[in-house]
Amino acid sequence: MNIRLKTALEVHRIRRSSRIIETLFQELRGVIKPGITSKKIDAFCEQFFQYHRVTSAQKGYRGYPASVCVSPNHIAAHGIPNEVPLERGDIFTVDVTIYLDGWHSDAAWTYSVGPPNPQALYLIKCAWKASLAGVMAAKAGNRLGDVGSAIHRTAVRFGCSVLEDFAGHGIGESFHEDPIVANTGTKGVGQPIVPGMVFTIEPILCLGDSKVKTLEDGWTVVTCDGSLTAQYEHTVAVFGDRTEVLTLSSIKPEEYLDGPPFF
Ligand code: MF3
Ligand code: CO
Ligand code: CO
Repeated sequence: MNIRLKTALEVHRIRRSSRIIETLFQELRGVIKPGITSKKIDAFCEQFFQYHRVTSAQKGYRGYPASVCVSPNHIAAHGIPNEVPLERGDIFTVDVTIYLDGWHSDAAWTYSVGPPNPQALYLIKCAWKASLAGVMAAKAGNRLGDVGSAIHRTAVRFGCSVLEDFAGHGIGESFHEDPIVANTGTKGVGQPIVPGMVFTIEPILCLGDSKVKTLEDGWTVVTCDGSLTAQYEHTVAVFGDRTEVLTLSSIKPEEYLDGPPFF
């Protein structure tokens, strides 16, 4: 394990990159509507990146073909944009990783296409609560097992499953750095969390069974039982006395314990 701790100045560079993703998520709320295709959403994001002079870290990453990952409904992760129009009642996750002046940030947001049905709303709230439980446990002095345990216990308490093959990761000059931030674990066990760590928290939850498979395109991961999935990913920076959610600068997470500020 080779964890690169960041200086305050380095965290500030990641913070700048993170705020751009945050703004994109706010703008996407007005874009993700019935009838739009995921290709159009990808194109909107690409234009946004050009305007803000940042680069998609996903495009070309291990051959990934688009600027953002788009994952509707039972697609759990890494969906590829296509020409299929979104429908009222779908839920739709956008995962964005950008690069600005040498520093990465990474976040994902699940949206409802039109008003959510009760099941979709329930899952959106659970996915948010699980991600925030992870954030709250990601404090200096705790261990990564506290984070994984908080995420997993929250999901299970609400009757949702956590996809086991996915995890958060350190982030900085590289897109994926050590440590791996598992979405399950045991309290008090694992890598100590220390000031200077910057990593993502990104549990994917589903309403059914957590078994997934990858489609023939080599990217698209779907739940085997077709159950709905949702994901909120945050990039966090650990300080001695607090943990800052770099990709949620405009809200206080403690004020949104029940669900996301918008979806
Ligand atoms: N952004 C994803 C993550 O949270 C990784 C996407 S890899 C890609 O780590 F190649 F699909 F873009
Ligand atoms: Co991501
Ligand atoms: Co990530």
